[in-house]
Amino acid sequence: MELILGVETSCDETAAGVVTGDGRILANVVASQADLHARYGGVVPEVASRRHLELVTPVVTEALERAGAGLEDLNAVAVTRGPGLIGALLVGLSAAKALAWSRRLPLVPVNHLHGHVASLYLQPDPLEPPFVCLLASGGHTLLLEVRDRSGFDVLGSTLDDAAGEAFDKGARLLGLGYPGGAAIDRLAREGDPEAFSFPVARVPGLDFSFSGLKTALLYTVRDLEPEEVERRRADLAASYQRAIVRALSERTLEAAEQTGLERIAVVGGVAANSELRCAMGEAALAPLELCTDNAVMIASAARFSPTVPYPGYLALDAYATAA
Ligand code: KG4
Ligand code: ZN
Repeated sequence: MELILGVETSCDETAAGVVTGDGRILANVVASQADLHARYGGVVPEVASRRHLELVTPVVTEALERAGAGLEDLNAVAVTRGPGLIGALLVGLSAAKALAWSRRLPLVPVNHLHGHVASLYLQPDPLEPPFVCLLASGGHTLLLEVRDRSGFDVLGSTLDDAAGEAFDKGARLLGLGYPGGAAIDRLAREGDPEAFSFPVARVPGLDFSFSGLKTALLYTVRDLEPEEVERRRADLAASYQRAIVRALSERTLEAAEQTGLERIAVVGGVAANSELRCAMGEAALAPLELCTDNAVMIASAARFSPTVPYPGYLALDAYATAA
């Protein structure tokens, strides 16, 4: 049985996971740093790097323990090479290189976005391409055409904020703390999504734009009395969420129509949103626990990515943005 160790440190989750060659998850360990960054209202890159450095060894050790495996049982080490915070990425990449090198194992550098898509390829319900994939996270919002498991073509992307960023910024305006997506999701359940009308920007092609929406919320909140904001916070959250979900789901359906692909999938942190999951009920949805950043999706992508043999990967660099 082939075993792959995955390591992910591109943002504020230190994660390690073990996956078999046929896509069974043996361990999925995620140490979130969200609490550490909450007081700053967003991820502080240098703070994230330092925390990754403290957490990466214990997290990898725990993943191996849970999988009942030792380094000697591994066939490859997979790691996120980019895109992400460069200092954060370098911690994971260096750790993965050291682990692979110590056992003369091959290393598999993985694109983080490919990782999100590959969260769909795991047991017990692996998805078979082709499909259109909406990838909505804190750092990205993309529509992808997925023809096979080794990659994807980009059909559209956000021109400004990512959908998760729109959730986080909206949550901040509503005084809900960071990260805000899940908080808006919870509060929205008690609110009326039609109470406020927020604009959904229609940009050409299959792209997205969320910055106008955030500004609309800002103006609405500014124009209300503080007690009214307090009283109607759930309505504001529900209406704001409705606008984001509508923008995402409409564009995704357009992409499916344009490509002629019948199957739709949704991945990334925002795929955890309950209203989006309802709106896209017919779609293949990434399992809830694999929506936000994790390392089993990285190990999963590694199964379909080129391997770099020992010791050629020692000079490999991370990249902050996709070329
Ligand atoms: O995929 P992810 O963990 O990290 C990136 O690669 O960016 O996504 C994190 C994003 C955050 O913006 C967070 O607010 C959002 O996903 N998110 C949600 C929910 N859970 C996480 N957004 C809306 N509803 C949720 N339930
Ligand atoms: Zn991500």
